[in-house]
Amino acid sequence: MSLRLGDIAPDFTADTTEGEISFHDWKSGSWAVLFSHPKDFTPVCTTELGYTAKLKEEFATRNAKVLALSVDSVADHKNWVGDIEETQGQAVNFPIIGDTDRAVATLYDMIHPNANDTLTVRSVFVIDPNNKVRLTITYPASTGRNFDEILRVLDSLQLTDGYKVATPVNWKHGEDVIVVPALSDEEATALFPAGFEKKKPYLRITKQPNL
Ligand code: BEZ
Repeated sequence: MSLRLGDIAPDFTADTTEGEISFHDWKSGSWAVLFSHPKDFTPVCTTELGYTAKLKEEFATRNAKVLALSVDSVADHKNWVGDIEETQGQAVNFPIIGDTDRAVATLYDMIHPNANDTLTVRSVFVIDPNNKVRLTITYPASTGRNFDEILRVLDSLQLTDGYKVATPVNWKHGEDVIVVPALSDEEATALFPAGFEKKKPYLRITKQPNL
């Protein structure tokens, strides 16, 4: 069965380009972005891994660690990373799981047989410090993902975990946010010294509270 939001992300031990990893121990206390790509030595995947490596500091700022996976071997990954550095101008700086027996892919339902019965799709799991699954997305092989969107979601999750707000469409860090409907106007006034704009009883806008 597929993983759902709020589920505990299953633990596993796997071989990676940076040695054996026990997932929960490896991410201990951090957020994790676990993502699969279909195949090494393929064009879209090459751009995705290079770009994600360029975001290392952005993930670190958000206390997030990145872990990639495909059903290719660690030896293949190690041969491929040179091409990523050469063509994308960035060395890969996170581990890549060699999941040749598909153990992790199966655990995380990353193989969708009606799309491809042997290769992983482009899955992304954002997992919080308590090992809860907080975001899942799935892209087809032919569409490269937008990893800036993963950073944006991390910003939203970390903000909304700490404050009684939600983030509106296309929100980015620094922009106005929404007061959660569960708060009364009186409670919102007490919680948000900057005040709020009441466009509708259920749509109240306030400044991002943690700036
Ligand atoms: C790619 O990364 O370019 C790719 C991988 C598998 C199927 C199609 C495209």
